[in-house]
Amino acid sequence: MSPRSHAPDAARAVVQYRHHARGYDASAQRTMRIRERTIEKLGLRPGDRVLDVASGTGLSFPLLRAAVGAQGAVVGIDVSPEMTRLARQRVTEAGWQNVTLLESPIESAHIPGPLDAVLFHFTHDVMRSPKALERIFAAAGPDVRIAIAGMKYVPWWMAPVNVIVRAKARPYMTTFEGLHTPWDLALPYLSEFEWRSVLFGIGYIGWGRVQSGAGAAFTSDHGRR
Ligand SMILES: C[S@@+](CC[C@H](N)C(=O)[O-])C[C@H]1O[C@@H](n2cnc3c(N)ncnc32)[C@H](O)[C@@H]1O
Repeated sequence: MSPRSHAPDAARAVVQYRHHARGYDASAQRTMRIRERTIEKLGLRPGDRVLDVASGTGLSFPLLRAAVGAQGAVVGIDVSPEMTRLARQRVTEAGWQNVTLLESPIESAHIPGPLDAVLFHFTHDVMRSPKALERIFAAAGPDVRIAIAGMKYVPWWMAPVNVIVRAKARPYMTTFEGLHTPWDLALPYLSEFEWRSVLFGIGYIGWGRVQSGAGAAFTSDHGRR
């Protein structure tokens, strides 16, 4: 089945990434600069504990591990056995003692806290899963820094470009739902949020902070809450 306007499906993601796992790192090279910029937005310091949501093959681990150092911790969670196996291999080869990997849908993962920061890098399915977000933000707690990157639709007046967005995104997500504002289900959990377009408008980087109380109002365009 191809991704349309339905809810994300973790079981389908497992099947999808069974095929992609081997070629994933090569295909992700063109977005490495976005990965670096997104991780910079987390403002990580030595000793921090960071969650890498849907960590895939662990391509972010070297940057996260370098930022938090040997005293910090990186936790990666991913539903795909094939992606997680490659991530585990990366951790073993590097000899990192403070990188923990869990193979699980985020929706039912036991997320070890406390956390200082949470990275969502090209995790559209998770961004569109209310259950997954509830679990992540419950574990994150107030004032935790977050950074998000991914693909998005361009505005309606450039709508034909969205055919390209769907073609590029298709192998990496099980739903196209929410591609106009992929971050919007996370907003109720945040006290601050800003985002910028990247990749000529077909991608975005967002960053912010988890709120300490309930109730919040947000700006939706390039801007702040
Ligand atoms: C495009 S890859 C991104 C991987 C990694 N974040 C990166 O930047 O290289 C998306 C990942 O999300 C994972 N995924 C999809 N739905 C998930 C879910 N509900 N829980 C955990 N992982 C999920 C897939 O298995 C896949 O590894």
